[in-house]
Amino acid sequence: MSKKDISRRTFLNYMLMGTGGFLAAGMITPMARFALDPALKSGAGEGDLVPVTTVDELSGEPQRFDFKVKTVDGWYQTETPMSAWVYKRGEEIVALSPICKHLGCTVQWNTNQSHPDHFFCPCHDGFYTKDGNNVPHTPPLAPLDVYEVDVQEGKVYLGKPQPNPVKGA
Ligand code: FES
Repeated sequence: MSKKDISRRTFLNYMLMGTGGFLAAGMITPMARFALDPALKSGAGEGDLVPVTTVDELSGEPQRFDFKVKTVDGWYQTETPMSAWVYKRGEEIVALSPICKHLGCTVQWNTNQSHPDHFFCPCHDGFYTKDGNNVPHTPPLAPLDVYEVDVQEGKVYLGKPQPNPVKGA
């Protein structure tokens, strides 16, 4: 076996290993990225603020706004429909969740004449004051949740609903 043959064989071996490694990396990298990507992005979409309305549209009277929140769960993206009752309290913007804290029905603003200017839950006659506090001796046992609110360039953005800081009845 001559020195020239060994060099050629060795060269071919290196070429085959290099080409094989290159092709294997080209196939494995996208598969590994596809498998790990959702895990690396865990929490994507969480805590995002969603534009819901503009400050100009708001008044002291609660108005209902419907919007959608994108949720990323692994490879799946879904849009969850949400609603909020939004109004101005002085310079502050209040956004209340419409989900009743009794059994989860949807509350309406000022629709029951026995309690004007209250949120009313028609399922079991639940009432809440304008700031979301549950009225004593009605079924709800906790105040309506409040959304995190942010205002940027006149637009009102809402985050996640959180426990209302008002003292529950
Ligand atoms: S679900 Fe609202 S009062 Fe029962």
